Amino acid sequence: MRTLDQAQVNGKRVLVRVDLNVPVENGRVTDRTRIERVAPTIREITGNGGKAILLSHFGRPKGRDLKHSLEPVVPAVAEILGRPVAFAADCIGKAAAEAIGAMRPGDVLCLENTRFHAGEERNDPEFVEALARLGDIYVDDAFSAAHRAHASVEGLAHRLPSYAGRSMQREIEALTSVFDRPKRPLAAIVGGAKVSTKLDLLGNLLANVDVLVIAGGMANTFLAALGKPVGKSLCEHDLLATAREIMKKANTEHREIVLPVDAVVAGKLETNAPSRVVAIEGVGADDMILDIGRRSIEHVCSVLARAKTLVWNGPLGAFEVEPFDIGTIEVAEAAAELSSAGELISVAGGGDTVAALNAAGVTERFTYVSTAGGAFLEWLEGKQLPGVAVLMQ
Ligand code: 3PG
Ligand code: MG
Repeated sequence: MRTLDQAQVNGKRVLVRVDLNVPVENGRVTDRTRIERVAPTIREITGNGGKAILLSHFGRPKGRDLKHSLEPVVPAVAEILGRPVAFAADCIGKAAAEAIGAMRPGDVLCLENTRFHAGEERNDPEFVEALARLGDIYVDDAFSAAHRAHASVEGLAHRLPSYAGRSMQREIEALTSVFDRPKRPLAAIVGGAKVSTKLDLLGNLLANVDVLVIAGGMANTFLAALGKPVGKSLCEHDLLATAREIMKKANTEHREIVLPVDAVVAGKLETNAPSRVVAIEGVGADDMILDIGRRSIEHVCSVLARAKTLVWNGPLGAFEVEPFDIGTIEVAEAAAELSSAGELISVAGGGDTVAALNAAGVTERFTYVSTAGGAFLEWLEGKQLPGVAVLMQ
């Protein structure tokens, strides 16, 4: 893969694909993680005399819609970089060209949402061309958008000399450490609500990992498939046969599947709802399983203690509602401790996972926590990501 190490940025117009698709409430960025992750790449480019021209999508607008303008994100970028960041009201054409014409080496400019043009998502050659005219080289630092074969992610990389930015590079290194000759035993923890959204992921993980821990709402479907009572818990009753097939495959391929042996149950999902811990066989007809219990926590921690590598996607319980966050927090804490002791390589990512690990306060101690949602999941499914593949060519 070509990285910034090979790029000559001095005096060049560098189109930098970043992912500024960050949460914004009342005109303010509420989670800056993605911006912080790309800051080193931008600083390296400007520090070496390049003109950093930021390209990003924001939300999923249908055409030009100022509700999805990137302008409110610019102050947060400037604050994190500690320098002014200019803004152009369009990512192609006159507005963009003029703003770029006014840049000096070391300047930073953010262009408006690439998705204001239909050509972005269609990877339309004319739109790619309009973007390419604005720059001399292309740097992609947006792993979290790499599953989209869009113009600013994929098409542009064919048109200009292209390189991975530092965040992209770190992300790929971390994910590679999991699936390319990982240190074994390799364990996976998969949580979250639904089996149906994670069938490909489970299939690919089972082909690679030694131990697969299944928790969260999706574990209920597996428990029900084994004939265990799940009461009123979230459960995909139409997927029981699928769950059985997955367990059978694991068995023939000598992969271990770990399911909860006990559960925290309550009558409703509400903060501090009265709850109790029961063995899995003891879940009552009116119970909802909302977290894994003490014995399950200990079991998962013992799996981690044996493992050398961990990949984690999805919370183990209803972590956004206290006290049903305890299972996720305690297992995350154990993984963080093993990681900082150098005994475990821990890689986590995908949607809710980052929020859960941030809430658990372990992110810094994990080996790597991805900020990607869909891209991380597609990687775990074993799919090739167009935005990564094009940097390898
Ligand atoms: C994300 O937030 O996961 C990425 O920015 C990709 O966004 P998308 O799902 O709208 O393509
Ligand atoms: Mg170990």
